[in-house]
This record gives sequence, structure tokens and C-alpha cells, in this order.
Amino acid sequence: MDFDVKQEVQNFYGKIAKKKTCCSCQEMSRVQRNYDGEYLENIPEDAIKTSLGCANPLVFAELKEGETVLDLGSGGGIDVLMSSKFVGKTGKIYGLDMTDEMLELANRNKEKMGVENVEFIKGFIENIPLANETVDAIISNCVINLTEDKVKALVEAYRVLKKTGRLAIADVVSLRPVSSEIKKQAQLWAGCISGAILLKIIN
Ligand SMILES: C[S@@+](CC[C@H](N)C(=O)[O-])C[C@H]1O[C@@H](n2cnc3c(N)ncnc32)[C@H](O)[C@@H]1O
Repeated sequence: MDFDVKQEVQNFYGKIAKKKTCCSCQEMSRVQRNYDGEYLENIPEDAIKTSLGCANPLVFAELKEGETVLDLGSGGGIDVLMSSKFVGKTGKIYGLDMTDEMLELANRNKEKMGVENVEFIKGFIENIPLANETVDAIISNCVINLTEDKVKALVEAYRVLKKTGRLAIADVVSLRPVSSEIKKQAQLWAGCISGAILLKIIN
């Protein structure tokens, strides 16, 4: 690869965070499709407008009151802020992201929503700045595809999960191996295509 994937991804998402919008009208309907009304209640508009996910990982995360949750690649914070409603005042949600502009946007959104059980932290999903076995559930929405080292990211996820922990990932998968031509294109990495996870169907 003649470019640095992380740098490209960071620049791309930094610009989106500064614009405070990802979404044309068409893409807004994607957000509405991913999350039904109940999930979006009380979520600040800027968090909704910068939602960049593929689906709603909360549907299968089954979060409960009092749990500790980690969102890998939290972006503008939409899934973290929604999770805060499920785990309540006795729970805690960490949003982890490597892009400063996204962390700034997420913190502004947290302030607008007025929640205290949320903390956005800077770091890489391949080197999670949390202790072993401290998290009940990990969620992630359209982020694992963006890393070149998916194994490291998943090993780290399992390290911080409690023995009884759960992993709920929404992401882009490919049914056939992505060609080397596509993998060489920086824009397609940032656009969640080049790093799509190869889906293996085991009969
Ligand atoms: C497609 S956006 C998804 C944001 C959010 N999950 C959502 O649903 O709106 C990807 C986010 O992951 C972050 N990211 C990408 N690769 C990362 C990595 N290796 N470590 C930490 N954050 C990463 C980017 O900075 C960006 O905010």
C-alpha cells in the first residue's frame, strides 16, 4: 500500500466531523431505517446527522441497567448516547475513537444530551486503553472494516471483555475477496469498501 490507511481514515472522518453532517436527504433515510423512533428519542440532532453506521448494534447487544459498555470507533457518539439510556445512571459507556474532531463533536453531543454516564476516550481499537475484563458488552458500528489489523482489534476486544461479556458488531462484509486493485485505493478504504470483512459461510 503506498498510503497510510489510518491517516487516510482519520483525515476523511475528521472532515466529516468538522462539517457536522454526513448526510444528504437520501442518507438521512438510511439513519431512520437503522434506528426506529424509540432509539432516536432525546438524541441530539448533530449526533443523528453525523451517524455513519451500517445498522443498529444495540438491537442485538441487549444492554442492561448498570452495565459497562464500550463502543469501538464511536464517531459523533450516536450509539454511545443511545446506550446511555439502556444502562442508566448506574452504568457506564466508553466511546473510543482515534480522530480528534470526532471526539470533540461527540463531547459536544454528550453535553447537549446532558448525560453523565458517558466518557469519550482517544485511542485505537487495536490498542484499547482499558484494563482486562472490565467491560460487559462491546458494540461497534461500521469500524472494524476500517482497520488493516482486524485480528489485533478482535484480540483487544476479547481482552477487555469480562468472561461473560458480549460482542455486537454491525459492519460491512463482502461475499467475495476484495480485489487488490480496490485495496490500493485510499478513498475506498475510508469509504468502508476496501477493508470489508470476508464472509465465510460454513455449512
Ligand atoms: C464509519 S465511522 C462510524 C462512526 C460511528 N460508529 C457511527 O456509527 O456513526 C468510523 C469511525 O471510526 C473511527 N476509527 C476508524 N478506525 C479506527 C481505529 N483503528 N481506532 C479507533 N477509531 C477508529 C473513525 O475515526 C470514525 O469516527
